[in-house]
Amino acid sequence: MSKQFDVIAIGGGPGGYIAAIRAAQLGFSVACVDEWKNSKGGPALGGTCTNVGCIPSKALLQSSENYDQAGHQFAEHGIELKGISLNIPKMIGRKDAVVKQNNDGIAYLLKKNKVTFFHGRGSFVAAKDGTYVIRVTGASEEAISGKHIILATGSNARALPGTPFDEVNILSNEGALCLSSVPGRLGLIGSGVIGLEMGSVWHRLGADVTILEGLPVFLGAVDQQVAKEGHKAFIKQGLKIELGVKVGEIKLGTKGVSVAYVDGKGLPQTLEVDKLIVSIGRVANTRGLEPETVGLKLYDRGAIVVDDECRTNLPNVWAVGDVVRGPMLAHKAEEEGVAVAERIAGQHGHVNFNTIPWVIYTHPEIAWVGQTEEQLKAQGRACKAGTFPFMANGRARALGDTTGMVKMLADAATDEILGVHIIGPYASELIAECVVAMEFRASSEDIARICHAHPTLSEATKEAALAVDKRTLNF
Ligand code: FAD
Ligand code: NAI
Repeated sequence: MSKQFDVIAIGGGPGGYIAAIRAAQLGFSVACVDEWKNSKGGPALGGTCTNVGCIPSKALLQSSENYDQAGHQFAEHGIELKGISLNIPKMIGRKDAVVKQNNDGIAYLLKKNKVTFFHGRGSFVAAKDGTYVIRVTGASEEAISGKHIILATGSNARALPGTPFDEVNILSNEGALCLSSVPGRLGLIGSGVIGLEMGSVWHRLGADVTILEGLPVFLGAVDQQVAKEGHKAFIKQGLKIELGVKVGEIKLGTKGVSVAYVDGKGLPQTLEVDKLIVSIGRVANTRGLEPETVGLKLYDRGAIVVDDECRTNLPNVWAVGDVVRGPMLAHKAEEEGVAVAERIAGQHGHVNFNTIPWVIYTHPEIAWVGQTEEQLKAQGRACKAGTFPFMANGRARALGDTTGMVKMLADAATDEILGVHIIGPYASELIAECVVAMEFRASSEDIARICHAHPTLSEATKEAALAVDKRTLNF
């Protein structure tokens, strides 16, 4: 007789483990199945986000920023350091320790919430009498059954056709996060989120970085006023970013990797690098689920077909996170996981896709929520824009970090905030106020009338709100 559960979450990343915890809080008997292995073959809960995504990238971004600050910024504060040196194995070791703290923390949370964890690959075996049988293949094999199944099997890095990742010279995010030394010349294909974050890490640590981007515009999905400011800042730091390229043959040689491409002017070029990171997006992962066994519908590119509420075509089978449509972000996966658990309990779980924040953790940071000016124009929606530069913000001056601005977009007639776009110090933290404001459908005047502590970076948000009505006080 197989072990029976009310809910089985397949995948232990932010979508799956959070759904499992919420379902357990709501009184269900819950299992979570995850196949990720640590270097010793044991479990490593947290999925892409914890093991090879959000957490390790932010650990390395912090370490590399500290190094950059010590080498380039401290002197301005009168702190003169001599003989700074890098210990890459130690830096990578610290990153691994941060990852492990998170793996262990999630295992603890599952236990605390009485979620039964199975380490292994979950695959559909059968559906009968309103129950799904799942085979878990790990160190041993066992069958478990559940009335509700939440699929949260995540995504994998997309490779260039004909150029598989070897994680030695041609790297996905996985290899990019564990190099044992700084490559002299580093190439990246794709100047999206991973390209910029990983390019920044290794550039700060000393690599000569070139990023080849297919699109003719930089950060096409980002408000273009902010994107242009970012482009300028990254070029000034020394990142080489070529736009509008067409990547051709990639060859592995004894001296590294050579990338043939046609540049933005139509001229043939070759980029010779020691290591190449390919960061051209990610593809949904249903590997091993055996969806055909139960007739689970997938799109051609592999994502699971779901409706607005994460229901698949099968009764009581749900899917959340990177494996379904929408932005591939950890907090989006979590929100969907919570909403699905609540729907299973007969509640009205809800995810507002218009208020999901985005953050690029470069320096300067870029963060936004809602619509860009370009999107509003394309919709023919009249809006007012207010911007405020960090150059005019006292706290930013004290930090010595004055690049960037806050830009607020509000409806021309109702003044409702439609989007906020920030480039500058702690944009990742500043955006939270704007998300709250948009969730409460605040107007720019609401933010403009709220008292913000002085001196803080958040005053720039208030001033951008004042700027919507052309009445900034400090600029
Ligand atoms: P995942 O986290 O991918 O988890 C899926 C889990 O399911 C994995 O553990 C996998 O092993 C397991 N699994 C798959 N199939 C099976 C099966 N059949 N049986 C059992 N287990 C299975 N997002 C942010 O919001 N902020 C960031 O700063 C950020 N940084 C990132 C940096 C990098 C380098 C990368 C690559 C991604 C980053 N992301 C970030 C994106 C974020 O990691 C994903 O959006 C998030 O992890 C998606 O969560 P998920 O639960 O859907 O899937
Ligand atoms: P991305 O979609 O952000 O960027 C991919 C870039 O590659 C795009 O600019 C695209 O135009 C370009 N591209 C695609 N094919 C190309 C080709 N053949 N040649 C040249 N350029 C090409 O994808 P990325 O950076 O791989 O990240 C994947 C996802 O992971 C992100 O979209 C995001 O959802 C998530 N992520 C989130 C982070 C965060 O929240 N801070 C950090 C890192 C990843």
